[in-house]
Amino acid sequence: MTDPKRYLVTSALPYANGLKHVGHLAGAYIPADIYARYLRAQKRDVVFVCGSDEHGTAIPIQAAKEGTTPRAIIDKYHEAMKQDFEDLSMSFDIYHRTSEPIHHETAQEFFTYLNDRGELETKESEQYYDEAAKTFLADRYIKGTCPNCGSDRAYGDQCENCGRTLSPDELINPVSTLSGQPPIKKKTSHWYLPLGKHEQFLREWILEQHKDDWRPTVVGQCKSWIEGGLQSRAVTRDLDWGIKVPLKDAEGKVLYVWFDAPIGYISATRQWAIDNKKDWKPYWYDKETKLVHFIGKDNIVFHCIIFPVMLRLHGNILPDNVPANEFLNLEGDKMSTSRNWKLDMRDYINDFVKKENGGGQCVDMLRYYLTQIAPETKDSEFTWKGFQDAVNSELVSIFGNFVNRTWVLMHKLCGGKVPKLHNDILDENDKFLIAEIEGAKAKVEMLLEQYKFREALYEVIDLSRKGNQYMQKKEPWIVAKQLAANPDLQKSIDNTMHLCLQLTANLAILINPFLPNTANSMIAMMKVVDKMLDWENAGRLKLLSVGYSLREPQLLFRKIEDIEIAEQVEKLKAGLVKAEAGSQKPEVRPETSPGKSSLTDLKPQIEYDDFAKLDLKVATIIAAEKVPKADKLLKLEVDLGWEKRTIVSGIALHFTPEDIIGKQVVIVANLAPRKMRGIESNGMILMAEDKDGKLKFINPDEATSNGSAVS
Ligand code: MF3
Ligand code: ZN
Repeated sequence: MTDPKRYLVTSALPYANGLKHVGHLAGAYIPADIYARYLRAQKRDVVFVCGSDEHGTAIPIQAAKEGTTPRAIIDKYHEAMKQDFEDLSMSFDIYHRTSEPIHHETAQEFFTYLNDRGELETKESEQYYDEAAKTFLADRYIKGTCPNCGSDRAYGDQCENCGRTLSPDELINPVSTLSGQPPIKKKTSHWYLPLGKHEQFLREWILEQHKDDWRPTVVGQCKSWIEGGLQSRAVTRDLDWGIKVPLKDAEGKVLYVWFDAPIGYISATRQWAIDNKKDWKPYWYDKETKLVHFIGKDNIVFHCIIFPVMLRLHGNILPDNVPANEFLNLEGDKMSTSRNWKLDMRDYINDFVKKENGGGQCVDMLRYYLTQIAPETKDSEFTWKGFQDAVNSELVSIFGNFVNRTWVLMHKLCGGKVPKLHNDILDENDKFLIAEIEGAKAKVEMLLEQYKFREALYEVIDLSRKGNQYMQKKEPWIVAKQLAANPDLQKSIDNTMHLCLQLTANLAILINPFLPNTANSMIAMMKVVDKMLDWENAGRLKLLSVGYSLREPQLLFRKIEDIEIAEQVEKLKAGLVKAEAGSQKPEVRPETSPGKSSLTDLKPQIEYDDFAKLDLKVATIIAAEKVPKADKLLKLEVDLGWEKRTIVSGIALHFTPEDIIGKQVVIVANLAPRKMRGIESNGMILMAEDKDGKLKFINPDEATSNGSAVS
């Protein structure tokens, strides 16, 4: 859309069930914030909304984990996330929440509108039900093996490992996360959005109209959804936490969280309009509004298929683009909350931003690195070493260095004032730099308009690199030494410093959407008002007037020391160990066994036949090695007498390979093979775990021939 009248920018509403990590930040928040700041600098009419997603099964599940109420959970995490975003300079015009009455009303009105017009279907079906907990098992209340990647961290709505959207019926070996038991099936009726009816629209709108301006990864995912056959999607659930279905005969039914949450963008806009005495309607109804959703790739189907169908039926505008990011890995492994392999925004804030040498510059360092590695086209990776390199060799050595040199030299050689530009003696180097300053705006702008934030940021840093090269060629500090002999040379020094100063002013404007705190420090040094940062000023050469005196230099960025990153890597590993020690317990304790310690906990009774299905054998560990990049895994080779096998075992935190080679063990020999870290594991080693979490092998009390049956 060219030259829209107004913009509505959204960032995915994070679930209020825990702190969010830097993967979220890189995926849906930083790019949106850059975009919104850029539009504001252009004096566009823009509203940037976000808020907490406070419904869905994730909330009561977290409440059960923390032994509190869903209400307490959303209050706690809403405040915490809001604070995190503020501490990292996110410039939302409103950070709303879906528990607000205005949101409930907006979502219910939306549902009623579609239902009254016959756009929803009702259907009775059999759904998983937990007899012990007496609840239907929607979404995160049910867990099983992923049909796509084989991970056992798959839920009724999505696989935690591969990100695939799932429905409970697709899960292999489903169990209730409430009781740990396999579920039964029970009849229930729900409202559905018949997506199949809208296939034609979706094909035309996405696969034709937007095939070139949307990211290929986004179009690709949509294509496979559309080609895979669009099923009707239930928009209601049998739950007691959520927005009530606004109909008489809908006792115990709430709106599905993915029905209400995106409507949260609308209710947030409404609340913003009330707070600012504006009209919200044009933002959602006027075709001249450009709506852009920033999300992570696991949200694509909801923002590109389901919500647009809802919006269209409801008479609203559609998103102009949905620049979804891929995933950000961390130090060689997927980021994961359940395995505690993550860097929470809060941890970064505490360890860097709130430290004595922290503040806005540390906020910008993280914003810088996360933009530089943004997973725009494919998954990318956060490493502490990468963070240190980006800060030290780009922010400090290139950008910060240029600004600092300019300031120091300007004070030394020009008396702390902006010197004149003598047009009559401009040389090739001066002219080259002028052209670069004038040309940068268009390049950065074009990239930002295409949501290529990495490249846009690169252009800005590259401009400062050119400033350094220019300075290196002109060497004003050497020229200054010849002044006594040739006073005319002051003109050349003036030109160099004048251009470096104008370049600094330009850098402040261009870096502002990305690193707002840095831009603020720069305008303070230049003693100019915020208005100088208006985007239209970029490319101009007379931003700082001749004779104007400037402040003392101030370092924009500090170095990141080796010790700081070593500490972070240590912390990450320690967190993993803690998570693993805790992961023995079921995610939510069954209500039937409150307070029992794990040493006295018994699983439900089984018949002899159940036991007889196990094939237990004695074997000897003949080789063992660590699995690369997997702290807890050992790859073992065991001898079963008649064959040798590979078994991958999660015991690396308890034993070294040397400890265990030669040991006899008991293995489950008929366990279905499972791939871990690309290695097929054929069986499982039996272990005893004492009350302190220490592991011991189970073995015969005397050496026994390998392959002996255990029964
Ligand atoms: N809470 C969802 C998640 O974290 C995102 C919701 S985005 C919205 O994956 F559009 F529904 F708001
Ligand atoms: Zn999966």
